[in-house]
Amino acid sequence: MEENQDLNPAPTSVRIAIIAAIGKNHELGRNNELLWHLNEDMQFFKETTVDHYVIMGRKSFESIPKKFRPLPNRVNVIISRNPDFMYEECYTCGSLEEAIELAGVNEEPLAFIIGGGEIYRQAIEKNSWMKCFSPWSMRLFMMLILGSQNSITSNGTKN
Ligand SMILES: NC(=O)c1ccc[n+]([C@@H]2O[C@H](COP(=O)([O-])OP(=O)(O)OC[C@H]3O[C@@H](n4cnc5c(N)ncnc54)[C@H](OP(=O)(O)O)[C@@H]3O)[C@@H](O)[C@H]2O)c1
Repeated sequence: MEENQDLNPAPTSVRIAIIAAIGKNHELGRNNELLWHLNEDMQFFKETTVDHYVIMGRKSFESIPKKFRPLPNRVNVIISRNPDFMYEECYTCGSLEEAIELAGVNEEPLAFIIGGGEIYRQAIEKNSWMKCFSPWSMRLFMMLILGSQNSITSNGTKN
């Protein structure tokens, strides 16, 4: 039987973590912006991800105010289906797998998936079957924000 590369990715030693701040109804953002601007949340995010790879969807990257992107002191990896998408000092990858492979090839020990909804959903879905085939081990860092409003949910749907 021919080996299915999609179901059997090259083993990588990079550990993967998801970091997200979610509201009590699993909301993440609205109109391509965060729903909250909390110093505590920002500080936690910065301290946790500094010096690591941060992997994000193109929309999340564009949701970061221009003066703060690319996120400093981190390797910014943007996932896009558009092969022409480029941004200075950033990597662009065509899939989550490609982004993780890049981190592995560059010997990053711990890469963070930082959003948004589409990318979180894919990461969780892939991990549920990929852990059978590869040594990915996924950790979750989550801030629960109480008192937020409805918007895009953590599974990529909008409400
Ligand atoms: N609360 C939090 O912790 C948190 C964290 C991050 C973001 N957010 C919020 O989340 C929202 C954005 O989330 P979102 O779900 O709309 O978008 P997203 O996940 O950030 O990005 C979606 C984009 O990623 C690319 N993409 C997705 N799947 C792909 C695949 N399999 N292969 C290649 N490229 C792929 C596509 O880019 P192209 O269209 O260029 O092809 C797609 O349009 C914003 O409101 C943001 O503020 C919240």
